[in-house]
Amino acid sequence: MDKPQLKWSEEQAQRIVRESYGAVIPKGLGVVENLYSADEIAWLPESVKGYALGLGNPIRYADLQPGEFVLDVGSGAGIDTFLAAKKVGSTGQVIGLDMTPEMLERARANQKLIGATNVEFRQGTMENIPLDDVSVDVVISNGVINLSAEKGQAFREFYRVLKPGGRLVFSDSVVNGQLPRSVLDSEAAFAG
Ligand SMILES: C[S@@+](CC[C@H](N)C(=O)[O-])C[C@H]1O[C@@H](n2cnc3c(N)ncnc32)[C@H](O)[C@@H]1O
Repeated sequence: MDKPQLKWSEEQAQRIVRESYGAVIPKGLGVVENLYSADEIAWLPESVKGYALGLGNPIRYADLQPGEFVLDVGSGAGIDTFLAAKKVGSTGQVIGLDMTPEMLERARANQKLIGATNVEFRQGTMENIPLDDVSVDVVISNGVINLSAEKGQAFREFYRVLKPGGRLVFSDSVVNGQLPRSVLDSEAAFAG
């Protein structure tokens, strides 16, 4: 039997995500305190920590080195982008990619607050990444790939932009088994 699939087209999924993440309201420090150690995040302002919406801590496993060029896919308010920027230092650079204008606005305000000069937040989608082929040392992502209705296309894009020997390090949710049709068809379950 075929596995039930999401019914959303790429455009519909992106509309649902934009509406949901455009309006998202921070819910305290519970997520950030669960996923990051106090040492990792002590230097970050509340406006970054309160908007941590990820599912893990990819930076901890990415082994980022000074001078590397990093892409944070679905950067949200910027938490992993800023942590990566600290690791790669002034000779490295981090691109935070997000498709939701309100998230980019928050991230750019946070960048000003922190004074990170090796960071650029760019609007775009993981299914059509606005970067050259073979240009990135490390792709990171946290809680974002599950939001694509075209995951194969997103992975093709990650591998297109990665240099040979580059790394892809991401945290995400996976389904072990089958979700009922009522969950697959729920916008709230998809992007809630
Ligand atoms: C769950 S939040 C995670 C944000 C951030 N990675 C973190 O850990 O706080 C998901 C983010 O991915 C972005 N997003 C979802 N689908 C996307 C897509 N197709 N392309 C680019 N960004 C996307 C959303 O706008 C949102 O900011």
